[in-house]
Amino acid sequence: MPDKIATEQDTSRRGHSVSVGILPAHHWATQDPPPLEEIDEDDSALGSDTASSTASLTSSILHYRTLHGRRYHSERGNAQYWASNDEQQNEALDILHHVLTLCTNGKLHQAPIKKGIQKAIDIGTGTGIWALDFADQFPDTEVIGTDISAIQPSWVPPNLKFEIEDCTGEWTFAPNSVDYVHIRWLLGSIADWTELFKQAYRCLKPGGYVESFEPDSVMQSDDGTVKETSAMGQWGKFFEEGGKKLGRPFSVLSDRLQRKGMEGAGFVDIEELDFKTPLGSWPHGPREKEIGRYSRLVADQDTEGFVLFAANTIGWTKDEIMVYVSHLRREIRSPKHHGYYQQRIVWARKPE
Ligand SMILES: C[S@@+](CC[C@H](N)C(=O)[O-])C[C@H]1O[C@@H](n2cnc3c(N)ncnc32)[C@H](O)[C@@H]1O
Repeated sequence: MPDKIATEQDTSRRGHSVSVGILPAHHWATQDPPPLEEIDEDDSALGSDTASSTASLTSSILHYRTLHGRRYHSERGNAQYWASNDEQQNEALDILHHVLTLCTNGKLHQAPIKKGIQKAIDIGTGTGIWALDFADQFPDTEVIGTDISAIQPSWVPPNLKFEIEDCTGEWTFAPNSVDYVHIRWLLGSIADWTELFKQAYRCLKPGGYVESFEPDSVMQSDDGTVKETSAMGQWGKFFEEGGKKLGRPFSVLSDRLQRKGMEGAGFVDIEELDFKTPLGSWPHGPREKEIGRYSRLVADQDTEGFVLFAANTIGWTKDEIMVYVSHLRREIRSPKHHGYYQQRIVWARKPE
């Protein structure tokens, strides 16, 4: 499972056919939801110690918009983001960080960066939780996290700061000034991945590293327990359809946008690490089970926040979305569905 480095065939996309499109909204109103299985006692106790607060930034940044009662980033400039930025979603992001570091056995980076590097930036930092951990591990490095939403904490290590910046525009960092660029979970936010990596290339010093960590939006199973017509099987289709409409693809893994973008930008020594991330407590191995239980907690923490924007984008009403979400929640909690999604970390060097 997650510790296995998959081959290219493994990640060539879903072990099943992709012929089924997105089911119409009314489909879910006619289905009986699967019986709600008991969640393990432990799971409800996981991940309650998250904290995120609003950094002190100019008030215009805090003009968010609301969609079906959930708070979203305001449409400033080019940026568009598909998940909400309120407390419920931010807590999910913090738990997600725990999942992602479990997946990498606690490693915050794969690129071979040295302890003494001067400057690292985290693009689309979210709640800044990766940047916080990285700044602690690299106390002599200046760390900057950027995002379009001001959802980062104000109490941070002295070597860390957060800036509001739209990464789809020209980055404000000086050319050849950065040692390491980290980018995680920006699928669905970026129209042109090559342009993103060109910005990283321009700002990196010769010999500096870029690293991109992205999931697949498609939930699959190896034993047929996640059918394409199930709520879990349909989940990725909202993102794919919504992403197409927004012009910001979710198909980062299947279209190999990380490697292609890095190659297009001029990076060399490109390396990849692929792994599966289970959803739910179904795996047998203790490590995989732990990852699965935490990733279920992420999905459970804000199932609606992960679906609302994409479903709204393709024209579903709030009521239709909520009926679908109730099916999805039940499936996610049921141990009968052995779902997982692929993730890929790609890192590369700017030539000397
Ligand atoms: C799924 S979250 C990932 C957060 C963080 N990288 C992590 O792994 O915990 C995606 C983040 O990207 C930010 N984002 C989306 N579009 C952006 C843009 N154009 N420029 C900067 N940040 C953006 C969102 O506001 C959100 O905080």
